[in-house]
Amino acid sequence: MTDTLDIKITKTQQSRLAQTDFSNLPFGQIFTDHMLVVDYADGEWKNFQIVPYGPLELSPAISALHYGQAFFEGLKAYKHADGKVTIFRPDKNASRFNKSADRLCMPQLPEDIFVNSIAALVDLEREWIPTAPGHSLYIRPFMFATDPYLGVSPSKTYKFIVLCCPVGAYFSKPLRVKFESHYTRSAEGGFGYAKAAGNYGGSMEPFKRAAEEGFDQLIWTDAKEHLYVEEMGAANVMFVLDGKLVTPSTRDTILDGVTRDTVIALARDWGMPVEERRVSIAEVVEGAKNGSLTDAFGAGTAATIAPVGAMHYDGVDYPMSDPSTREFSQKVLKTLNAIRYGEAPDTHNWNFLVG
Ligand code: PLP
Ligand code: COI
Repeated sequence: MTDTLDIKITKTQQSRLAQTDFSNLPFGQIFTDHMLVVDYADGEWKNFQIVPYGPLELSPAISALHYGQAFFEGLKAYKHADGKVTIFRPDKNASRFNKSADRLCMPQLPEDIFVNSIAALVDLEREWIPTAPGHSLYIRPFMFATDPYLGVSPSKTYKFIVLCCPVGAYFSKPLRVKFESHYTRSAEGGFGYAKAAGNYGGSMEPFKRAAEEGFDQLIWTDAKEHLYVEEMGAANVMFVLDGKLVTPSTRDTILDGVTRDTVIALARDWGMPVEERRVSIAEVVEGAKNGSLTDAFGAGTAATIAPVGAMHYDGVDYPMSDPSTREFSQKVLKTLNAIRYGEAPDTHNWNFLVG
Protein backbone atom coordinates (compact mmCIF):
# COMPACT_ATOMS: atom_id res chain seq x y z
CA MET A 1 0.00 0.00 0.00
CA THR A 2 2.88 2.36 0.83
CA ASP A 3 4.15 2.21 -2.73
CA THR A 4 0.78 3.20 -4.07
CA LEU A 5 0.28 6.02 -1.55
CA ASP A 6 0.55 8.97 -3.86
CA ILE A 7 0.62 12.22 -1.89
CA LYS A 8 0.65 15.53 -3.74
CA ILE A 9 2.91 17.91 -1.83
CA THR A 10 2.55 21.69 -2.09
CA LYS A 11 5.21 23.36 0.04
CA THR A 12 4.70 26.67 1.79
CA GLN A 13 6.36 29.74 0.32
CA GLN A 14 6.74 31.26 3.78
CA SER A 15 7.97 28.95 6.51
CA ARG A 16 7.18 30.09 10.06
CA LEU A 17 9.96 27.92 11.52
CA ALA A 18 12.57 30.69 11.99
CA GLN A 19 10.09 32.93 13.87
CA THR A 20 8.97 30.16 16.24
CA ASP A 21 10.14 30.47 19.84
CA PHE A 22 11.05 26.89 20.77
CA SER A 23 11.66 27.94 24.37
CA ASN A 24 7.95 28.67 24.75
CA LEU A 25 5.69 25.99 23.32
CA PRO A 26 2.22 26.13 24.88
CA PHE A 27 0.33 22.92 24.04
CA GLY A 28 -1.60 22.93 20.78
CA GLN A 29 -1.18 26.57 19.82
CA ILE A 30 1.73 26.49 17.41
CA PHE A 31 1.24 24.58 14.19
CA THR A 32 3.89 23.47 11.74
CA ASP A 33 4.00 24.75 8.17
CA HIS A 34 2.00 21.93 6.57
CA MET A 35 -0.99 19.65 7.08
CA LEU A 36 -2.21 16.46 5.45
CA VAL A 37 -5.69 16.60 3.91
CA VAL A 38 -7.46 13.55 2.47
CA ASP A 39 -11.02 13.23 1.13
CA TYR A 40 -13.44 10.33 1.36
CA ALA A 41 -16.09 10.19 -1.35
CA ASP A 42 -17.71 7.55 -3.57
CA GLY A 43 -16.66 4.87 -1.08
CA GLU A 44 -12.91 5.54 -1.25
CA TRP A 45 -10.09 7.68 0.16
CA LYS A 46 -8.71 10.06 -2.47
CA ASN A 47 -6.89 13.37 -3.07
CA PHE A 48 -4.03 12.73 -0.64
CA GLN A 49 -2.40 16.13 -0.25
CA ILE A 50 0.12 17.86 1.97
CA VAL A 51 -0.58 21.59 1.79
CA PRO A 52 0.41 24.70 3.74
CA TYR A 53 -1.36 24.84 7.14
CA GLY A 54 -4.35 27.15 6.87
CA PRO A 55 -8.14 27.56 6.91
CA LEU A 56 -10.52 25.18 5.14
CA GLU A 57 -13.51 26.08 3.05
CA LEU A 58 -16.53 24.09 4.28
CA SER A 59 -20.30 24.24 4.04
CA PRO A 60 -21.94 25.49 7.26
CA ALA A 61 -24.33 22.54 6.94
CA ILE A 62 -21.72 19.78 7.42
CA SER A 63 -23.03 17.16 9.82
CA ALA A 64 -19.82 17.18 11.90
CA LEU A 65 -20.84 20.63 13.14
CA HIS A 66 -24.47 19.72 13.82
CA TYR A 67 -24.40 16.11 14.98
CA GLY A 68 -20.81 15.53 16.04
CA GLN A 69 -19.72 12.94 13.50
CA ALA A 70 -16.11 13.75 14.35
CA PHE A 71 -13.26 12.16 16.28
CA PHE A 72 -9.50 12.47 16.64
CA GLU A 73 -6.28 10.77 17.64
CA GLY A 74 -3.13 11.98 19.36
CA LEU A 75 0.43 10.64 19.01
CA LYS A 76 3.96 11.99 19.12
CA ALA A 77 7.16 12.04 17.05
CA TYR A 78 10.60 12.34 18.65
CA LYS A 79 14.01 13.37 17.33
CA HIS A 80 16.99 11.31 18.50
CA ALA A 81 20.47 12.74 19.10
CA ASP A 82 21.67 11.19 15.80
CA GLY A 83 18.90 12.99 13.87
CA LYS A 84 16.66 9.93 13.46
CA VAL A 85 12.96 10.67 13.73
CA THR A 86 10.54 8.13 15.19
CA ILE A 87 6.81 8.05 15.90
CA PHE A 88 5.73 6.24 19.06
CA ARG A 89 3.42 3.23 18.46
CA PRO A 90 1.41 4.66 15.55
CA ASP A 91 -0.08 1.21 14.86
CA LYS A 92 -1.98 1.43 18.16
CA ASN A 93 -3.46 4.79 17.20
CA ALA A 94 -4.33 3.43 13.77
CA SER A 95 -6.38 0.61 15.24
CA ARG A 96 -8.08 2.88 17.80
CA PHE A 97 -8.81 5.35 14.98
CA ASN A 98 -10.82 2.64 13.25
CA LYS A 99 -12.64 1.67 16.46
CA SER A 100 -13.76 5.30 16.84
CA ALA A 101 -14.75 5.42 13.16
CA ASP A 102 -16.78 2.25 13.52
CA ARG A 103 -18.73 3.54 16.55
CA LEU A 104 -19.57 6.80 14.77
CA CYS A 105 -20.62 5.12 11.48
CA MET A 106 -17.63 6.59 9.68
CA PRO A 107 -15.40 4.85 7.11
CA GLN A 108 -12.37 2.77 8.03
CA LEU A 109 -8.93 4.02 7.04
CA PRO A 110 -6.50 1.16 6.31
CA GLU A 111 -3.89 1.13 9.08
CA ASP A 112 -0.89 1.29 6.74
CA ILE A 113 -2.37 4.37 5.04
CA PHE A 114 -2.91 6.02 8.46
CA VAL A 115 0.69 5.33 9.51
CA ASN A 116 2.43 6.04 6.21
CA SER A 117 0.57 9.25 5.40
CA ILE A 118 1.37 10.59 8.88
CA ALA A 119 5.01 9.54 8.45
CA ALA A 120 5.17 11.46 5.15
CA LEU A 121 3.95 14.63 6.88
CA VAL A 122 6.31 14.20 9.84
CA ASP A 123 9.20 13.62 7.44
CA LEU A 124 8.48 16.96 5.76
CA GLU A 125 8.18 18.70 9.16
CA ARG A 126 11.24 17.09 10.80
CA GLU A 127 12.92 20.47 11.40
CA TRP A 128 9.95 21.38 13.60
CA ILE A 129 10.56 18.56 16.09
CA PRO A 130 11.87 20.08 19.33
CA THR A 131 14.77 18.30 21.00
CA ALA A 132 14.71 19.72 24.54
CA PRO A 133 14.03 17.10 27.25
CA GLY A 134 10.35 16.19 27.37
CA HIS A 135 9.64 17.95 24.07
CA SER A 136 8.24 16.35 20.94
CA LEU A 137 6.02 16.87 17.92
CA TYR A 138 2.37 16.27 18.83
CA ILE A 139 0.45 14.79 15.90
CA ARG A 140 -3.29 15.34 15.69
CA PRO A 141 -5.10 13.19 13.09
CA PHE A 142 -8.86 13.68 12.89
CA MET A 143 -11.81 12.78 10.72
CA PHE A 144 -15.13 14.54 10.28
CA ALA A 145 -18.31 14.34 8.21
CA THR A 146 -18.62 16.82 5.36
CA ASP A 147 -22.03 16.16 3.75
CA PRO A 148 -23.96 19.45 3.65
CA TYR A 149 -27.16 17.77 4.86
CA LEU A 150 -29.27 18.40 7.95
CA GLY A 151 -30.84 14.94 8.21
CA VAL A 152 -29.54 12.82 11.09
CA SER A 153 -27.84 10.02 9.18
CA PRO A 154 -24.24 9.08 8.44
CA SER A 155 -22.51 11.35 5.96
CA LYS A 156 -21.30 9.92 2.67
CA THR A 157 -18.27 12.21 2.51
CA TYR A 158 -15.50 12.87 5.06
CA LYS A 159 -12.16 14.54 5.51
CA PHE A 160 -9.12 13.04 7.21
CA ILE A 161 -6.69 15.77 8.29
CA VAL A 162 -3.44 15.66 10.24
CA LEU A 163 -1.93 18.66 12.03
CA CYS A 164 1.38 18.83 13.90
CA CYS A 165 2.41 20.99 16.86
CA PRO A 166 5.81 21.23 18.55
CA VAL A 167 5.07 20.79 22.28
CA GLY A 168 6.56 20.65 25.72
CA ALA A 169 4.82 19.52 28.91
CA TYR A 170 1.00 19.50 29.00
CA PHE A 171 0.82 19.73 32.79
CA SER A 172 3.45 21.77 34.58
CA LYS A 173 2.89 20.65 38.18
CA PRO A 174 1.53 17.74 40.22
CA LEU A 175 -2.24 17.63 39.88
CA ARG A 176 -4.79 18.28 42.58
CA VAL A 177 -7.67 16.06 41.51
CA LYS A 178 -11.14 15.26 42.77
CA PHE A 179 -13.20 12.15 42.25
CA GLU A 180 -16.26 13.33 40.30
CA SER A 181 -19.45 12.35 42.07
CA HIS A 182 -22.09 14.19 40.03
CA TYR A 183 -21.23 14.43 36.33
CA THR A 184 -20.67 11.47 34.02
CA ARG A 185 -18.33 11.28 31.05
CA SER A 186 -19.67 8.08 29.58
CA ALA A 187 -21.99 5.22 30.39
CA GLU A 188 -22.20 1.55 29.43
CA GLY A 189 -23.44 1.24 25.87
CA GLY A 190 -22.20 4.75 25.08
CA PHE A 191 -19.06 5.75 23.23
CA GLY A 192 -16.56 6.64 25.96
CA TYR A 193 -14.05 4.24 24.39
CA ALA A 194 -14.07 6.25 21.15
CA LYS A 195 -12.05 9.43 20.82
CA ALA A 196 -15.21 11.22 19.75
CA ALA A 197 -15.17 15.02 19.75
CA GLY A 198 -18.44 14.99 21.72
CA ASN A 199 -16.81 13.23 24.68
CA TYR A 200 -14.57 16.26 25.13
CA GLY A 201 -17.28 18.88 24.53
CA GLY A 202 -19.38 17.31 27.28
CA SER A 203 -16.50 17.35 29.74
CA MET A 204 -15.91 21.11 29.64
CA GLU A 205 -18.65 22.15 32.07
CA PRO A 206 -17.56 19.61 34.74
CA PHE A 207 -13.94 20.74 34.24
CA LYS A 208 -14.89 24.37 34.54
CA ARG A 209 -16.64 23.67 37.84
CA ALA A 210 -13.73 21.59 39.13
CA ALA A 211 -11.31 24.40 38.23
CA GLU A 212 -13.52 26.90 40.06
CA GLU A 213 -13.30 24.64 43.12
CA GLY A 214 -9.49 24.72 42.85
CA PHE A 215 -8.82 21.36 41.14
CA ASP A 216 -6.48 20.84 38.19
CA GLN A 217 -8.26 17.73 36.93
CA LEU A 218 -11.03 15.38 37.85
CA ILE A 219 -11.17 11.62 37.96
CA TRP A 220 -14.29 10.31 36.26
CA THR A 221 -16.20 7.62 38.10
CA ASP A 222 -18.78 5.08 36.94
CA ALA A 223 -22.08 6.48 35.72
CA LYS A 224 -24.28 4.22 37.88
CA GLU A 225 -22.98 4.77 41.40
CA HIS A 226 -19.96 7.10 41.20
CA LEU A 227 -18.09 4.57 43.35
CA TYR A 228 -15.55 3.19 40.87
CA VAL A 229 -12.64 4.94 39.19
CA GLU A 230 -12.69 5.31 35.39
CA GLU A 231 -10.10 7.75 33.98
CA MET A 232 -8.88 11.34 34.06
CA GLY A 233 -9.66 14.19 31.68
CA ALA A 234 -7.07 13.54 29.03
CA ALA A 235 -5.36 10.51 30.49
CA ASN A 236 -5.89 7.08 31.98
CA VAL A 237 -5.32 6.83 35.71
CA MET A 238 -2.91 4.38 37.35
CA PHE A 239 -2.04 3.62 40.97
CA VAL A 240 0.61 1.71 42.86
CA LEU A 241 -1.24 0.00 45.70
CA ASP A 242 0.47 -2.53 47.97
CA GLY A 243 3.37 -2.69 45.51
CA LYS A 244 1.09 -3.63 42.58
CA LEU A 245 0.27 -1.53 39.51
CA VAL A 246 -3.50 -1.15 39.67
CA THR A 247 -5.60 0.48 36.95
CA PRO A 248 -9.24 0.29 35.84
CA SER A 249 -9.76 -2.34 33.16
CA THR A 250 -10.75 -0.88 29.80
CA ARG A 251 -14.31 -1.33 28.64
CA ASP A 252 -16.81 0.67 26.62
CA THR A 253 -16.72 3.60 29.06
CA ILE A 254 -12.94 4.08 29.05
CA LEU A 255 -10.43 5.08 26.38
CA ASP A 256 -7.95 2.27 25.77
CA GLY A 257 -4.83 4.44 26.11
CA VAL A 258 -1.57 3.73 24.32
CA THR A 259 0.43 5.15 27.24
CA ARG A 260 -1.52 3.00 29.71
CA ASP A 261 -0.73 -0.11 27.64
CA THR A 262 2.94 0.94 27.48
CA VAL A 263 3.21 1.45 31.25
CA ILE A 264 1.63 -1.96 31.85
CA ALA A 265 4.15 -3.58 29.48
CA LEU A 266 7.07 -1.91 31.31
CA ALA A 267 5.74 -2.98 34.72
CA ARG A 268 5.48 -6.58 33.46
CA ASP A 269 9.03 -6.35 32.05
CA TRP A 270 10.15 -5.41 35.56
CA GLY A 271 8.28 -8.30 37.16
CA MET A 272 5.81 -6.07 38.94
CA PRO A 273 2.32 -7.47 39.54
CA VAL A 274 -0.31 -5.71 37.40
CA GLU A 275 -4.02 -5.65 38.14
CA GLU A 276 -6.43 -4.42 35.46
CA ARG A 277 -9.79 -4.55 37.19
CA ARG A 278 -12.57 -2.47 38.69
CA VAL A 279 -10.96 -0.07 41.13
CA SER A 280 -13.10 1.47 43.86
CA ILE A 281 -12.62 4.99 45.15
CA ALA A 282 -12.86 3.49 48.66
CA GLU A 283 -9.73 1.34 48.25
CA VAL A 284 -7.73 4.22 46.74
CA VAL A 285 -8.75 6.54 49.58
CA GLU A 286 -8.00 3.82 52.14
CA GLY A 287 -4.56 3.34 50.55
CA ALA A 288 -3.92 7.08 50.79
CA LYS A 289 -4.86 6.97 54.48
CA ASN A 290 -2.83 3.91 55.48
CA GLY A 291 0.19 4.55 53.22
CA SER A 292 -0.25 1.52 50.91
CA LEU A 293 -0.95 3.90 48.00
CA THR A 294 2.58 4.94 47.00
CA ASP A 295 1.94 6.35 43.52
CA ALA A 296 -0.90 7.80 41.46
CA PHE A 297 -0.58 9.35 38.03
CA GLY A 298 -2.30 10.09 34.77
CA ALA A 299 -0.94 8.36 31.66
CA GLY A 300 -1.54 9.87 28.24
CA THR A 301 0.16 11.03 25.07
CA ALA A 302 -0.18 14.74 25.78
CA ALA A 303 -0.11 14.30 29.57
CA THR A 304 2.82 11.81 29.47
CA ILE A 305 3.17 10.63 33.09
CA ALA A 306 1.36 13.27 35.14
CA PRO A 307 1.73 12.78 38.90
CA VAL A 308 -1.26 13.28 41.17
CA GLY A 309 -0.20 15.59 43.98
CA ALA A 310 -3.37 15.40 46.05
CA MET A 311 -6.74 13.64 45.84
CA HIS A 312 -10.04 14.94 47.08
CA TYR A 313 -13.11 12.91 47.97
CA ASP A 314 -16.22 13.63 49.98
CA GLY A 315 -14.92 16.93 51.36
CA VAL A 316 -11.50 15.58 52.42
CA ASP A 317 -8.08 16.23 50.82
CA TYR A 318 -5.60 13.34 50.70
CA PRO A 319 -2.10 14.71 50.02
CA MET A 320 0.36 12.38 48.30
CA SER A 321 4.14 12.07 48.55
CA ASP A 322 6.47 14.39 46.63
CA PRO A 323 6.40 13.01 43.04
CA SER A 324 10.20 13.23 42.71
CA THR A 325 10.50 10.60 45.47
CA ARG A 326 8.14 8.08 43.85
CA GLU A 327 9.99 5.06 42.63
CA PHE A 328 7.60 3.65 40.01
CA SER A 329 6.40 6.70 38.06
CA GLN A 330 9.90 8.20 38.06
CA LYS A 331 11.34 4.97 36.62
CA VAL A 332 8.55 4.77 34.02
CA LEU A 333 9.08 8.35 32.88
CA LYS A 334 12.85 7.90 32.65
CA THR A 335 12.60 4.61 30.80
CA LEU A 336 9.92 5.83 28.41
CA ASN A 337 11.89 8.95 27.54
CA ALA A 338 15.06 6.92 27.00
CA ILE A 339 13.24 4.60 24.58
CA ARG A 340 11.49 7.45 22.76
CA TYR A 341 14.65 9.51 22.28
CA GLY A 342 16.63 6.46 21.17
CA GLU A 343 18.82 6.31 24.30
CA ALA A 344 17.71 2.83 25.41
CA PRO A 345 17.01 -0.36 23.47
CA ASP A 346 13.51 -0.44 21.98
CA THR A 347 12.88 -4.08 22.85
CA HIS A 348 9.15 -3.93 22.11
CA ASN A 349 9.61 -2.24 18.70
CA TRP A 350 7.54 0.74 19.76
CA ASN A 351 9.46 3.31 17.67
CA PHE A 352 8.35 3.63 14.04
CA LEU A 353 11.22 5.05 12.00
CA VAL A 354 10.35 7.95 9.69
CA GLY A 355 12.11 8.41 6.35
N1 PLP B 1 -8.28 9.05 28.18
C1 PLP B 1 -8.68 10.15 27.52
C2 PLP B 1 -10.06 10.63 27.72
C3 PLP B 1 -7.79 10.80 26.64
O1 PLP B 1 -8.18 11.90 25.97
C4 PLP B 1 -6.48 10.30 26.49
C5 PLP B 1 -5.55 10.95 25.57
O2 PLP B 1 -5.37 10.57 24.47
C6 PLP B 1 -6.12 9.14 27.20
C7 PLP B 1 -7.04 8.55 28.04
C8 PLP B 1 -4.76 8.54 27.05
O3 PLP B 1 -4.62 7.85 25.82
P1 PLP B 1 -3.23 7.77 25.07
O4 PLP B 1 -2.25 7.25 26.03
O5 PLP B 1 -3.49 6.83 23.93
O6 PLP B 1 -2.90 9.15 24.62
C1 COI C 1 -3.85 13.15 23.77
O1 COI C 1 -3.11 12.88 24.72
O2 COI C 1 -3.59 12.89 22.61
C2 COI C 1 -5.13 13.79 24.02
O3 COI C 1 -6.06 13.45 23.40
C3 COI C 1 -5.18 14.88 24.95
C4 COI C 1 -5.94 16.03 24.35
C5 COI C 1 -7.39 15.92 24.62
C6 COI C 1 -5.36 17.33 24.75
